Amino acid sequence: MVDEEKDEMIVTPWEVRGEIDYARLIREFGTEPITESLLERIAKHTGELHLQLRRRLFFSHRDLDIILDLLDKGTKFVLYTGRGPSGPVHIGHLVPWIFTKYLQDKFDTRLYFQMTDDEKFVVEDKLRLEETKNFGYENALDLIALGFEPEDTFMIFDVDDIDLLYDIALKVAKRTTYSTAKATFGFRDSTNIGWIFWPAIQAVPCFIHEKLTGENVPALIPAAIDQDPYWRITRDVAPKLGYYKPAQIHCRFLPGLGTGGKMSASEPETSIYTTDSPDAVKKKIWNAYTGGKATVNEQEKLGGDPNICTIFQYLLYLFEQNDEELVERERSCKAGETLCGHCKDELTEKVNKFLAEHQKKREKARSRLADFHIKR
Ligand code: TYM
Repeated sequence: MVDEEKDEMIVTPWEVRGEIDYARLIREFGTEPITESLLERIAKHTGELHLQLRRRLFFSHRDLDIILDLLDKGTKFVLYTGRGPSGPVHIGHLVPWIFTKYLQDKFDTRLYFQMTDDEKFVVEDKLRLEETKNFGYENALDLIALGFEPEDTFMIFDVDDIDLLYDIALKVAKRTTYSTAKATFGFRDSTNIGWIFWPAIQAVPCFIHEKLTGENVPALIPAAIDQDPYWRITRDVAPKLGYYKPAQIHCRFLPGLGTGGKMSASEPETSIYTTDSPDAVKKKIWNAYTGGKATVNEQEKLGGDPNICTIFQYLLYLFEQNDEELVERERSCKAGETLCGHCKDELTEKVNKFLAEHQKKREKARSRLADFHIKR
């Protein structure tokens, strides 16, 4: 969706900004909302629902019902997700990955994870190929730190593993016209041709399981909704190549610490990276946009607005696991009983505690890259 108006909502795989209207995205992208009955069907397999489902952070899907129908009849699915390594990982990226780990554990499935060093090289003017490859290896440490294991996680580094991908990419490319790709991604005459071929490569892991194992099963893709345009093209092509259409489950965007849009690696002051120091985290959180009033007096009289508060969003998405605590925080904010400084302090502590653990696991992961057949 390309819109020239400055404050208009823009959601593409390369840019997300403005105020995001998720109901409108469902309508315009043609996806389905995740309903109560679908949640009940998931819970039959998983027991308690993950907080990202309970809190409707995963809010939309394509064919998730079909995945569950097939499962009922004995056909399993594989998971597929990925990362475009243009810089360090921020905590927004962790949202779909943590959820993917939950799905993998609950459904006992294999995950294909694509590291798109090629995409970021062709799309980002300033990045050299050595840089995107290197970010890819660094970003893989974050994934391993989240607990993924080589037995059921197959990592694909596009440039190193292109021999594995190329035949399927060609088949996808041959069945995708330039006019479809242009309508989907908004290419222009000045767009380099690497970028134009690129969507065929992102489609490949949807189908790779059959090539590797001989088993033709559907892929389910957990990701934020910005990646959806890729799947529209891939879903058109899938039946022509004899594959199931890949299914998706889409999450909302963890916002940046400023106003509007999503946490974005290109805005370092409003993004918390997994490699940030405790002081850097504290500084960023203390400068964050909140739903608080201008003065303590006003806040106590009128209360704050958690809906627009980035601090509250971080607790909602990742850092307050306890639903009752979250509801109580919301109530006391609205009632003017809590001041923003208090929430900022608590969030800083929670984020730094999480990152201290994550960073330890991330360092340990350095010696494990070879277990994942990463060719560094
Ligand atoms: P990338 O690197 O932009 O994003 C990686 C994953 O993180 C999600 N994401 C977010 N989720 C919640 N809040 C945010 N603020 C936020 N920012 C990003 C993205 O939706 C994505 O799931 N082209 C892809 C790489 C890729 C891929 C895939 C992603 C290849 N195959 C399959 C998902 C599924 C990319 O550049 O992602």
